[in-house]
Amino acid sequence: MSEFVRVATLDQVPFGGSLKVTVGNRPVAVVNCDEGVFAISDLCSHADVSLSEGEVLDCTIECWLHGSQFSLRTGAPLGPPAITPVPTYEVRLIELDGRTHIEVALEPRPFSPEERPQS
Ligand code: FES
Repeated sequence: MSEFVRVATLDQVPFGGSLKVTVGNRPVAVVNCDEGVFAISDLCSHADVSLSEGEVLDCTIECWLHGSQFSLRTGAPLGPPAITPVPTYEVRLIELDGRTHIEVALEPRPFSPEERPQS
């Protein structure tokens, strides 16, 4: 079973937006959208810019530099110029002291092109 780290409270991540956090020593974008809370590497696979500075659209995040969108569920690029998936991480929400805390798995999950249900 994966080890999880607590990274933020839910109220720190704007709905329809993202927050850059550090998981282990890796930059990760935590995204709060219609379909749940997701965690995806904060580095675009095309040129290593910060995905958390991009727009959240449906269940994707768009790189601000050249416009590739990545699935929040799988990390797959949905259009050019990026062609390589970015890692995604399992997320769990914990109720504690009257607040909702976001925990992210320390290790990325293996890439699968299949859509995953949000846990
Ligand atoms: S740097 Fe992200 S699409 Fe080019």
